[in-house]
Amino acid sequence: MKLIQKIASKQTYTVRNAVLRHGKPIESCRFDGDDLETTTHFGLVVAKNIIGIVSIFQHKSDIFVVGNQYQIRGMAVLEDFQQKGFGRELILYCEKYILTKNGNLIWFNARENAVKFYEKLGYTKQGNPFIIDGIGSHYVMYKMLT
Ligand SMILES: CC(C)(COP(=O)(O)OP(=O)(O)OC[C@H]1O[C@@H](n2cnc3c(N)ncnc32)[C@H](O)[C@@H]1OP(=O)(O)O)[C@@H](O)C(=O)NCCC(=O)NCCS
Repeated sequence: MKLIQKIASKQTYTVRNAVLRHGKPIESCRFDGDDLETTTHFGLVVAKNIIGIVSIFQHKSDIFVVGNQYQIRGMAVLEDFQQKGFGRELILYCEKYILTKNGNLIWFNARENAVKFYEKLGYTKQGNPFIIDGIGSHYVMYKMLT
């Protein structure tokens, strides 16, 4: 059985650690703002195991002028489950959720190697690539929802 459900911030750590912070201490898996009331974490559960995660932060970027902005962070699918459509399902789920919150725009810092994945889902690169220390090259990407 497969479902997407809200999870607690700490429940993201296993997948964050395996996919996004590989070889780094578990403390590196805690993000600022993880436990704000306005932050939501979703897990994609397959056979009772969380195999994919995504977190939504109500966070305005100065790059964009529109009002109600949401930032996606910590998007990850366990390696054995990648390229099976789960990442797409998580992003589409986020978009529906953010629309229920009257969000106007989704933005995030995309790892360079994931840019094509997001482009396939209708996201656009904004500006030049930049380095996040210890992780690598990223682009800001966004999609207007309304
Ligand atoms: C990037 C990631 C979230 C994508 O999730 P996924 O479940 O593997 O992706 P999906 O199977 O839903 O792919 C949807 C489409 O995007 C494509 N795609 C997925 N990852 C891609 C990538 N890295 N580069 C290019 N295309 C990619 C798929 O081939 C598929 O294309 P199709 O519609 O033509 O069949 C996942 O691979 C991952 O966790 N990667 C490592 C961590 C990471 O980079 N996270 C993003 C941080 S910004």
